[in-house]
Amino acid sequence: MTDRPRALVTAPFRGEGLETLRRLADVVLDPWIDQQPLRLYNSEQLAERAQAEGANVVIVESDSVKGPVLELPLMAIGSCRGDPNNVDVEAATARGIPVLRAPGRNADAVAELTIALLLAVNRGIVAADGDVRRGDVYKDGSIPYQRFRAWELAGRTAGLVGLGAVGRATRWRLEGLGMRVIAHDPYASDATHSLDDLLAEADVVSMHAMVTSETAGMIGAEQFERMKDGAVYVNSARAMLHDTDALVAALVSGKLGGAGLDHFEGEHLPVDHPLVGMTNVVLTPHIGGATYDTEANHSKLIADGLAELLAGGKPDNLVNPEVLT
Ligand SMILES: NC(=O)c1ccc[n+]([C@@H]2O[C@H](COP(=O)([O-])OP(=O)(O)OC[C@H]3O[C@@H](n4cnc5c(N)ncnc54)[C@H](O)[C@@H]3O)[C@@H](O)[C@H]2O)c1
Repeated sequence: MTDRPRALVTAPFRGEGLETLRRLADVVLDPWIDQQPLRLYNSEQLAERAQAEGANVVIVESDSVKGPVLELPLMAIGSCRGDPNNVDVEAATARGIPVLRAPGRNADAVAELTIALLLAVNRGIVAADGDVRRGDVYKDGSIPYQRFRAWELAGRTAGLVGLGAVGRATRWRLEGLGMRVIAHDPYASDATHSLDDLLAEADVVSMHAMVTSETAGMIGAEQFERMKDGAVYVNSARAMLHDTDALVAALVSGKLGGAGLDHFEGEHLPVDHPLVGMTNVVLTPHIGGATYDTEANHSKLIADGLAELLAGGKPDNLVNPEVLT
């Protein structure tokens, strides 16, 4: 790797990582996030663009890096995601192309949104805001102080299902709010609780597991039933982790006190979905990771990884270290 590389960057890229990358390579920066309507390159389109730019490094977020892209003489691929599922890693490895990823890039972003959802659900922020905006503060003969009472979070127990990057970033924030935090994660030695024990103890259940065949649908009618009466359920991970009909039933029956959700199957909810009409539910459209810091974090991870590769090292975020042997 002696010639100065030329990098086509279709991911948002900023901060220290962008400065590093500009020191290492000639950079063509054309992030998808600046495009309206949305632009998502398939492999043919990305291959054509990379070839037209004369790029031998491609750095993407969701564009497809498969087939024809891997026929180009690439020296490295950067996938600005924790799971580089937009890259055909096996084919890249077969061609000896290093693939870098960006683990934990959005952990703080998702953790902050998790806390925002929890506080919003627990204190009825969205419903209260609606009352103010509609001039509906004194309704049905009551004042807001009567309608918006809540238990405080301090001193109560939060149960984290999944103790990976986001779970850990959420844990200290909840502790900072004065909560006792317990966790269930069969692959984390400091997660001490079985799922059933966690559900029985937690005033707040917050989902942070990845979706696998083991975790898909792991929170269904039986699990909602095991939760404490009035528990708050937060899912800033993936809707696939729960049975949405069972969630609706647990909210309708009053078993759950409320829910905060950042993801829906198919990425949206029909406007006539029962969750939409519930004032104790706060809904956000998969914006957990949407911070400028997420972009700065993945930029730094990928650029530092590339610097190490170019210096002959083996970066921690290299997905296929076997290409270096
Ligand atoms: N809302 C958003 O915008 C957004 C952004 C990033 C990540 N996410 C989601 O948040 C979740 C966590 O992401 P992450 O970056 O922390 O991933 P991660 O891989 O760091 O952590 C996932 C954790 O799930 C655990 N796990 C696996 N099987 C489990 C099981 N049966 N029970 C409990 N835990 C189990 C793993 O051991 C791991 O610790 C994922 O579902 C991810 O898709 C959402």
